[in-house]
Amino acid sequence: MTDVAATLNELRCAGLYRELRVIESAQGPRVRLDGREVILLCSNDYLGLANHPALRGAAADAAQKWGAGAGASRLVSGNMLLHSELEAEIAAFKAYDRCVLFGSGFLANIGVIAALAGRGEVVLSDELNHASIVDGCRQARAETIVYAHRDMTALEHGLRYAAGRPALIVTDAVFSMDGDLAPLEQIVELARRHGARLVVDEAHATGVVGPGGRGLVAALGLEHEVDVVIGTLGKALGSYGAFACCNRAMGEFLVNRARTLIYSTALPPPTVAAALAGLKLLCEEPARVTRLWRNALLLRTELAARGFAVEQNEMPIVPIFVGDPRSAVEVCEQALRDRVFAQAIRPPTVPAGTSRLRLVATSVHSEDELRQAARALSKATQYASPQAHQL
Ligand SMILES: Cc1ncc(COP(=O)(O)O)c(C=O)c1O
Repeated sequence: MTDVAATLNELRCAGLYRELRVIESAQGPRVRLDGREVILLCSNDYLGLANHPALRGAAADAAQKWGAGAGASRLVSGNMLLHSELEAEIAAFKAYDRCVLFGSGFLANIGVIAALAGRGEVVLSDELNHASIVDGCRQARAETIVYAHRDMTALEHGLRYAAGRPALIVTDAVFSMDGDLAPLEQIVELARRHGARLVVDEAHATGVVGPGGRGLVAALGLEHEVDVVIGTLGKALGSYGAFACCNRAMGEFLVNRARTLIYSTALPPPTVAAALAGLKLLCEEPARVTRLWRNALLLRTELAARGFAVEQNEMPIVPIFVGDPRSAVEVCEQALRDRVFAQAIRPPTVPAGTSRLRLVATSVHSEDELRQAARALSKATQYASPQAHQL
């Protein structure tokens, strides 16, 4: 039996104990935390849509018209007009024939991977894939091969090892804790050569990467090569829930086989309506995405000017490596004293020895806020963890 008290004690001793913080305002570039306004630099609300009036209004109207909940799973009686409408809009946005909604990105990854990788088959998964992909692999009855991060030689080696068994490759498009991209063209090429299926998780690519925020698969024109594109509605799209885009047959297969869709209540109407409004805004105002890229580059430039080893590109996830988990928490607390909130990320979310602050620039931060944040983080790392600059 798990010893709860001993486990908590071990976590405290290792600097890995976690506590929930309470945000006392709506989401935005600044939020209230512990009674003070702080610059929020660790949210995935990339386009500032979570508290946009259009999404708030759509959710409120949907609650009035359709009610607060869906009442049942989609295959029983929870599938409402709004769900079909959102699926059609997302399929068009991603240039796929079919889209299937799920309760969350976590549920989508588990449902899709476990449905597609059966006994006697092989799943190949990047070592830095999101926890939900890891859990999807655990639930699948297939053998899982974890390949080194973005290492195509290792992936090819795994595909050879699969030796004729059906293989499924799964990768994040944008890796959630590092912000780097999967080498998707090379992965597609390997999948094609070895006859493997390919699932790409665009949780941090949707609304963020590619023309109009259509994602990495769209940016590279690989829609016909990637069997399933997963995305979440809870990050750039400002709402909650998730989707899988695929061809019609695969869509029917998921509806019949993905247990996290079959055995879970459909998304609530206000949530679906908010996602529809978020997607509409994204399509009508693509400048939000270019502003996101500009802000990401600005944050990176400001950090580099203060000695941080960050790459100069337009990806909004910017890891500031600290190493030791306790030092990462200290840097976070120190930055909070200067009213900048960037949560410390520690194992098991990231590998041991790579605790970090995971910064996220959004399209709604002002230039001043990003400069102020870089200044505060520079001061915080020098005070709490001098080595953070050199890593
Ligand atoms: C790469 C990736 N996939 C899936 C998820 C899960 O998505 P959701 O928050 O919708 O459950 C996340 C979110 O943290 C993620 O980073």
